[in-house]
Amino acid sequence: MASPRGALLDAVSALPQAVNPLALSLNECPFPPLPAVRSALSTSNDAVNRYPEFLPERLRSLIAGHDGIGEDQVVIGVGATGVIMQVLHAVTSPGDTMVMSSPTFDGYPIFAQMARLRSVTVPLDRHGHHDLDAMAEAATHARVVVVCRPHNPTGTVEPAADIERFLARVPADTVVLLDEAYVEFLAAEHRIDGPSLVTRFGNVVVVRTFSKAYGLAGLRIGYGFCAPELGRQLWTMQLPFGIGLTAMVAVAASYDAESQLRQRIRMIAAERRYLQMRLRALGVYTTDGQANFIYLPADHAPWREVFDGTGLQVRHYVDGGVRITIGSRQSTRAVLWAVRAVR
Ligand SMILES: Cc1ncc(COP(=O)(O)O)c(C=O)c1O
Repeated sequence: MASPRGALLDAVSALPQAVNPLALSLNECPFPPLPAVRSALSTSNDAVNRYPEFLPERLRSLIAGHDGIGEDQVVIGVGATGVIMQVLHAVTSPGDTMVMSSPTFDGYPIFAQMARLRSVTVPLDRHGHHDLDAMAEAATHARVVVVCRPHNPTGTVEPAADIERFLARVPADTVVLLDEAYVEFLAAEHRIDGPSLVTRFGNVVVVRTFSKAYGLAGLRIGYGFCAPELGRQLWTMQLPFGIGLTAMVAVAASYDAESQLRQRIRMIAAERRYLQMRLRALGVYTTDGQANFIYLPADHAPWREVFDGTGLQVRHYVDGGVRITIGSRQSTRAVLWAVRAVR
């Protein structure tokens, strides 16, 4: 057994590195926390002998004010993951059906299994877009349907008008998870007015996270918003003392530092465009990724062989496609070096 001192050393050395140009498999933010966020977090550490709020009402109010929605429309989760599970627990029963695209964010098949749901998958088209007609058709027999916008792993974005048409076809008692985990990376013309959407479609839950653009993946903070009636139902499933003390200060400090965050987001988007452009110049096709990652479909090269042994951590898919998170220029160079080696 390790000595207590050894266990501490082990625990500290097991912490992930904040800056690691090769860590491109989880769509994290490549930058360490902003100084203002770090200092707010160290202040909150001084009070961890105390419980957080029984239910995260202050955090809910902060997020509602920031996004221009009513407090009774917001639920808070342990990451977007926690929000999604909260929705599934509130609105489904074992044996119900959940519709999702394939491939999708790895979490969804796991969440469906945890909630004992039957997954129905609808393949993406060859450019990584949803087949919204087929999904609407499948949704007529489902309790929940998921659309990620931008999509993970392809980064593609369905036009707002197509989403509206899709929502109009989904039965009112089928809950739609509109997963906007990467929304902050979208250019203004691609954004959907979420608050307006949920007033028109009472069955939509917009899911967001502080794990991606906000760079707080390790703190596990996410939220969802929807129409007040559904929001009140979801809030009844809010876990008592379920959101740690640090969440409130980290979110408040991040909102305060929004202009610095926006600058980081612009840098990541610019790096993504640069990598896409350089890959295009090498004749490598990527889907039209709009988030902080790119997706290279299977048919262009044996991607596993390309990246194995390079030290780069990327996310491979069973069909041979690969998703690569945008990092620093050093990360971009490492990716291009690996790709060039086989072209
Ligand atoms: C589309 C999508 N939804 C949800 C999540 C879960 O995020 P969180 O860290 O907030 O649980 C992810 C994480 O990669 C994701 O890609």
